[in-house]
Amino acid sequence: MPVLCVNVDHVATLRQARMGIEPEPVTAAYMAEMAGAVGIIMHLREDRRHVQDRDIELVRKTCNTRLHFEMAATDEMQRIALDVDPETVCLVPEKREELTTEGGLNCVGREQELADFLAPLHEKGVRSSLFIDADKAQIEAAKNIGAEFIEIHTGHYADAKEFGERQVELKKIVEGVAYARELGLKVNLGHGLNYRNILAFRNVPGISEYSIGHSIIARSIYVGLDRAVRDMADLIRTFVD
Ligand code: PXP
Repeated sequence: MPVLCVNVDHVATLRQARMGIEPEPVTAAYMAEMAGAVGIIMHLREDRRHVQDRDIELVRKTCNTRLHFEMAATDEMQRIALDVDPETVCLVPEKREELTTEGGLNCVGREQELADFLAPLHEKGVRSSLFIDADKAQIEAAKNIGAEFIEIHTGHYADAKEFGERQVELKKIVEGVAYARELGLKVNLGHGLNYRNILAFRNVPGISEYSIGHSIIARSIYVGLDRAVRDMADLIRTFVD
């Protein structure tokens, strides 16, 4: 059964707006687990614009499910990941000027570099994922790098304004999921997914996890975090395996 992992970066974003102590992402992570999330996702950015080092350390200590650590492939982040020892690391591209992660990581031509980067984490038993676009060459590169998972970037699908454009992006993702599964990769989806656009994946087999942040934290303002997570987890529970 596909499952929900909740990204709590946006809780940290709100706290950092005042550089204060609330809201607390660690509490949000705990509440998300209580409401049905099977994993907590945090992206420690190089510029520390939302999640801080202490957030990762505290969630590592208090997490009852799985901690997925999103990070750029830099020496600093590798050091932190080895120290924190999350269940999974997900390598993402990072640009200082972007509002949020804008696209998938380019893995083509970087197979050896990324395999070497992940090697010490694999040796420690940390599982790895690569956040990539639904592109055959990227999927093959991810396979060659030796990652266990890929996370297909659903942002282009989520952002598409026209029906036709959205269908084109959806088809790419559905075909990407099938191809990655054929190669033996496990597949997660994430970015820009909400309570409506996620329904397109209801009958798509082979998806392990959905990684969702913004839409859940946004809804929590109106209905509370418990209900917002529960609504999404319940929805995903109705999806095919
Ligand atoms: N997956 C990755 C790799 C991301 O960078 C993000 C955004 O931080 C998400 C999933 C979650 O996206 P959203 O906040 O739009 O649900």
